[in-house]
Amino acid sequence: MAHIHNERVMRMRVILIGGASGIAQAIASTVLDGGGEVVLAGRHRESLDAAVALLGPRASAVVIDLADESSIAQAASSVGSVDHVISLAADHANGPLGDLDGTAVRNAFDAKVIGPILLAKHFSPQVREGGSFLFFSGVAAWKPAPGLSVMATTNGAVAFLVEALAVELAPTRVNALSPGIVDSGAWDSMGSGKDTLFADTARTNPVRRVGQPSDIAAAALSLLTNTFVTGVTLHVDGGGRLS
Ligand SMILES: NC(=O)c1ccc[n+]([C@@H]2O[C@H](COP(=O)([O-])OP(=O)(O)OC[C@H]3O[C@@H](n4cnc5c(N)ncnc54)[C@H](OP(=O)(O)O)[C@@H]3O)[C@@H](O)[C@H]2O)c1
Repeated sequence: MAHIHNERVMRMRVILIGGASGIAQAIASTVLDGGGEVVLAGRHRESLDAAVALLGPRASAVVIDLADESSIAQAASSVGSVDHVISLAADHANGPLGDLDGTAVRNAFDAKVIGPILLAKHFSPQVREGGSFLFFSGVAAWKPAPGLSVMATTNGAVAFLVEALAVELAPTRVNALSPGIVDSGAWDSMGSGKDTLFADTARTNPVRRVGQPSDIAAAALSLLTNTFVTGVTLHVDGGGRLS
């Protein structure tokens, strides 16, 4: 079994949208370590190029803005066939309802919900036999909090989207991964608020620690390689949604 698993990883060609983010980098490194190839996608060429430079010659970059369908269609034809399409993109619209800007809310849905639907539309003809889509949800959907209604709704929609697409795109598999609080770099702009959030998370969740990108990468690899898993949302949150 281990042999089959390794063979699959070695042959893998994966595109990661939101590819310059912390979790994407950990997944990309895991695929590359196994002998695979990665294409990083996102809105900003400079951050993609910087990430590719760190990953080495089996990594490349393509610009995709999930709010722009033509960029998705162009990338699908320029990238060609892949084994897996992973979208980690998130564009946050957090804050009290009274302060929410409609455009920011729409951008959040573009990144997490509409963009993945359009990725499925344009990339499904490019996904090789045995391949899959993997979309990123998040613990906020199962643990609502004031100011996080958009995050909860977009992440929740991902869980239903993968069930629908698993049926529509069969036999291509479609899964979701829902991280808990992970030290991916995304929280660094919070300053000392990050320390408080992480200490609270580690105190209250069942595993008593925050997640690391490597925790998420290991779970993602399992969803990519287990060809009997489709239409699921895998919670990799240290049990955070239960606390
Ligand atoms: N870190 C956590 O604690 C945590 C918790 C729960 C869920 N998650 C989920 O896990 C995933 C990865 O999280 P992360 O912390 O590594 O990264 P992140 O900081 O949330 O990264 C988001 C990425 O999405 C890209 N992006 C945003 N809008 C886009 C668009 N319209 N088109 C294409 N790309 C777009 C951004 O790149 P550009 O701006 O350069 O385009 C960025 O690379 C996200 O979906 C996040 O919601 C994370």
